[in-house]
Amino acid sequence: MLVCTVVMGSAAPRTAEDIERNIDRLISRMTIEEKIGQLNQLSNVGYNDNIAGQIRNGAVGSILNETDPETVNRLQKEAIENSRLGIPIVFARDVIHGFKTIFPIPLGQAATWNPELVELGARIAADEASSAGIRWTFSPMVDVARDARWGRIAEGAGEDPYLAGRMGAAMVRGYQGNDLSSPNTMAACVKHFAGYGASESGKDYNTTWIPDNLLRDVYLPPFKDAIDAGSATMMCSFNDINGVPSSGNIWLLRELLRNEWGYDGMMVSDWNSIGEMVSHGVCEDLGDAALKAAVAGVDMDMEAKAYISNLSDMVNSDRLPVARVDSMVRNVLRLKYRLGLFDNPYVDLKKANRFYSRTNLDAARRCAAESAVLLKNEGILPIDFKNKRVAVIGPMADAPYDQAGTWSFDLEKEHTVTPLATLRQIYGDNIIYAPGLDYSRELSTDGFDKAVEAAEQADIILFFAGEEAVLSGEAHCLADITLPGAQKKLISRLKETGRPIALVIMAGRPMAVAPQCEQADAVIYMFHPGTMGGPAIADLLSGNDNPSGKLPVSLPRVSGQFPLYYSHKNTGRPAENMTLINDIELEAPQTSTGCTSFYLDAGDGPLFPFGYGLSYTTFAYSDPELSDIVIPSDGNITATCTITNTGSMTGAETVQLYIRDIVGSLARPVKELKDFKKITLSPGESQTVTFTVDASRLGFHTLDGKYIVEPGEFKLWISGDSQSGTPASFKITHAGNASVK
Ligand code: GLC
Repeated sequence: MLVCTVVMGSAAPRTAEDIERNIDRLISRMTIEEKIGQLNQLSNVGYNDNIAGQIRNGAVGSILNETDPETVNRLQKEAIENSRLGIPIVFARDVIHGFKTIFPIPLGQAATWNPELVELGARIAADEASSAGIRWTFSPMVDVARDARWGRIAEGAGEDPYLAGRMGAAMVRGYQGNDLSSPNTMAACVKHFAGYGASESGKDYNTTWIPDNLLRDVYLPPFKDAIDAGSATMMCSFNDINGVPSSGNIWLLRELLRNEWGYDGMMVSDWNSIGEMVSHGVCEDLGDAALKAAVAGVDMDMEAKAYISNLSDMVNSDRLPVARVDSMVRNVLRLKYRLGLFDNPYVDLKKANRFYSRTNLDAARRCAAESAVLLKNEGILPIDFKNKRVAVIGPMADAPYDQAGTWSFDLEKEHTVTPLATLRQIYGDNIIYAPGLDYSRELSTDGFDKAVEAAEQADIILFFAGEEAVLSGEAHCLADITLPGAQKKLISRLKETGRPIALVIMAGRPMAVAPQCEQADAVIYMFHPGTMGGPAIADLLSGNDNPSGKLPVSLPRVSGQFPLYYSHKNTGRPAENMTLINDIELEAPQTSTGCTSFYLDAGDGPLFPFGYGLSYTTFAYSDPELSDIVIPSDGNITATCTITNTGSMTGAETVQLYIRDIVGSLARPVKELKDFKKITLSPGESQTVTFTVDASRLGFHTLDGKYIVEPGEFKLWISGDSQSGTPASFKITHAGNASVK
């Protein structure tokens, strides 16, 4: 069990009442310009007269992207000592999966299905980043994503709202600790509110069309989970929902978030998202956008300079009530009080830049190891490196920058430990290295001959495939998600050598790699594993560790299958009796290929399903047993299942609970994840896992946005992935207005 012993700060946190009283007093003394200054966030690197002057005039509430602790203190000093009211600045940064010690990208962290480990990673990120002066991170991103063409699928927890909520809440706990006023914490910022993952055709910043009940059943729940975990801030999204950009969406930001959910944290816009409402075509100009965003409830303006340049006119011309501005300022000041910045505004330079401790690196290694998903193993893993010659080939074998993945702003790639470096260090001359391609997009085949030569000298080929970090993340969407460059050609060339191939894929998304998985004898999938990806994969490949990752996203057969997700509707014609494209006779009659829901050129469903992942051992599941088979809509049942390690190696297994509402007033998904538990079993060991299933969590939102739990039959699975297992049935006896979970 890894424990990150982080010494928390000593200042006693102020009570909520103290904070509100202080805010009242402060607001009563502020001019309108000073109030609006608190709503202004600027991206800044370095100290200069211009920024110093703005700070002295009380025109800057927050600065993002300053990561030098001495500069942070110098800028902070201007605010504390040289502005009229001495209100501290809050310094922010995108610390998305680690600050200097880089953890797997969030999609990889989700593949661990280990919230405690994800929380530890966030705690470590906060400890490192706060030692550089960062007290606010723009994380967790909890956008449910079901289209791998969207580059930002890398930043979230994948396709399922329940898993996204568990991971988002874990990160909030990790960043904020148990006392946000401690100097080694960071305020979380759950983003992007909301519906961003539904960007049409997987193209970033694109429009979304999300019916209210889908928004409430799928895209909103992870935000509620992160808020319930205490996220101090939120960020609104770039996209429009049904034509309404989130930065101006009164229903979303006021009626739902403040009135229905009672959220009292601070809402920041995304970068210039206020200004982008002009481009969306819903605002005449920046002034109009500033007004719309302020009325909708965006408290702080990131980098649009819309508020600082327009709100005082809006107030002076009575188009914006000063009370609205006060409410926004209140949320900003509350954040700063909660962070303890009024008592402790400066970075302790004696403890500054505390990075890369052994504890931190070991936690990153553990996370990378648990994030790896074993998809296939036809007896060639683990590899006996001591007695085998292994040809290490491929563009991701020694890619210290790209192994870290997207949003690694503060990465120092010389600290990345790559698979090649690790394997060479341990196994020396048994490793024969020939990349074949120098980077993932390389089209030249000049390196192929050397790679084939290496393969022919070896007993086994270890191929590291995937995509460079820049091919996923913000604004990095792909219409074709097969392996880029000449990787496919190289793998085919290597296949001709007849040597067994172990394929390791490092990517920022689920890629369409069906042919390569077919050609390989074993496949391990890693979502850009971060600083310690090398030692982690070496432990797994050698059998010093046992893979336990499970897919947080469905792996597609081809690029064209999106949106793709396990919790789909059954439709009136679920796929069956499929005649595929190469089996169709010439001049085949119109209906001869079957009339059900599938692709002629891809069949139906994923290559590997959500929740799937193998181990070097095997696990047997008993049929689930239920405490009752009839329950009231405000009742619950317990479901138990005994899992046995039927193999010869200790292994961890994520036991997953799925349900299906067989008949509803609306068509219901064929499965929905409702709980999971990760257990470790030694060979021959059995463990009975018990889940409590509250009927109140088995409802859904109707077309008019009401949450209901309907009577009728349900099925329940307890299994190792979203496709396997034998269901048990139970009934809910009567309709009820169970409160939203
Ligand atoms: C970016 C991203 C957002 C990030 C912000 C600050 O455009 O959309 O996720 O936190 O700007 O860098």
